[in-house]
Amino acid sequence: MLELKHDLRLAKTRDEKARMNFVSGLRAHVLNDLASGMRSVYDAKVEPQFRREQKRVPKDGPEVHKAIKGNDYFKFYSTLRVTAQDMVWQSVIPPLERNRPELKQKAAKLAGKSKARGTLRLQPNFEVPRYVSAIDVHLMAGNYDGEYEKDDLAAGSLYDNGLAVFSFGLMGQNLDDIGQSIAGFIRLKYPNLQPKKILDLGCTIGHNTGSWKDHFPEAEVHGIDVAAPCLRYAHARAEAQDRTVHFHQMNAEKLDFPDASFDVVFSSMFLHEVPKKSIAKIMNEAYRVLKPGGLMLHMELPPNSQLSAYDAFYLDWDSAYNNEPFYKPFRDLRPEDLCQKAGFDPKKYVQFVIPSVGWYGEKVWREAATRPPEVDSDKTGRLTDGILWYCFGAWK
Ligand SMILES: C[S@@+](CC[C@H](N)C(=O)[O-])C[C@H]1O[C@@H](n2cnc3c(N)ncnc32)[C@H](O)[C@@H]1O
Repeated sequence: MLELKHDLRLAKTRDEKARMNFVSGLRAHVLNDLASGMRSVYDAKVEPQFRREQKRVPKDGPEVHKAIKGNDYFKFYSTLRVTAQDMVWQSVIPPLERNRPELKQKAAKLAGKSKARGTLRLQPNFEVPRYVSAIDVHLMAGNYDGEYEKDDLAAGSLYDNGLAVFSFGLMGQNLDDIGQSIAGFIRLKYPNLQPKKILDLGCTIGHNTGSWKDHFPEAEVHGIDVAAPCLRYAHARAEAQDRTVHFHQMNAEKLDFPDASFDVVFSSMFLHEVPKKSIAKIMNEAYRVLKPGGLMLHMELPPNSQLSAYDAFYLDWDSAYNNEPFYKPFRDLRPEDLCQKAGFDPKKYVQFVIPSVGWYGEKVWREAATRPPEVDSDKTGRLTDGILWYCFGAWK
């Protein structure tokens, strides 16, 4: 398990560390070893049987899912994966409960005393959308917005520490491999882009927001989210790392920023947690607040239209078994259509497949900036060794 390096990390007993390490290892085993075993079982047994019966191959993810559902290997894989997912959060909750008072004290101190000069703007009577408040997405107890005491930031800590266990090292030391890989890639690919203002939508604890400040230090960087406990934590976390980021409690469907006020509007792992109707509103808002000549970019799971039937099924697993109701509906949409409907010129559509800089190292990552983007069906967006990050967007 990866040990967080910033000052908000939780003090843990040896037993707690051992439990977290075990869960991380279990996740790596399920997502690397068992996943590749399941693919072999599919190729050797499930698909041939489907072909014998139907005289064709499965045409999409749902057909693969239906064909494999009764298979014992799939059931074992799924049971273990659901159990490991639950254990991620269960491994963090005891040290978090014990550390709550210190966590609040540290955050308050950081907010007052750090070198950075970021800000936090919360709204007292803010209405959190029901699609956030009514579910525990990916089985995370209390979800992003759960608040149990004044100035609570436990949900932010649960997410930060949970992500460290969940990602078994693939997200990097600061859990910002997505941000570092993508913000750095954009700087490399578009050396003339000199954004003055950058916005990150659905920023949660700001772990990927800060990377934009690292790669574009001259820019003013803003992050918005609906969840107050995550934003409190994000602010303290950014200050602990001396990154100047401005956090706001805001709904991305109705941004409180003027028209044409940002040069880059970014999001990561955000749209797949939002219902389709809201995605359309968010895309419209991204278009509205973007300056002419600015770039909108969403890092996301790759769309089903660009994956093989098996890989579409594989990624959609979360929708069926991990409390991610909006995941598959989002992945069934075509990103180019989403951009066009929001007002972007189809000729200005962009798509990138970016190697994780942490996994592949700088050389391979740099080379990708000169290659056409191609979705590698079993590595793109999949939390596994050799991960590639997918993103799409458009220039305004
Ligand atoms: C999966 S997390 C995003 C993670 C993060 N951006 C990253 O890079 O890993 C989804 C976040 O979106 C937020 N969210 C959901 N609906 C929103 C909305 N309409 N406006 C702003 N934030 C929203 C949630 O509170 C949550 O923090």
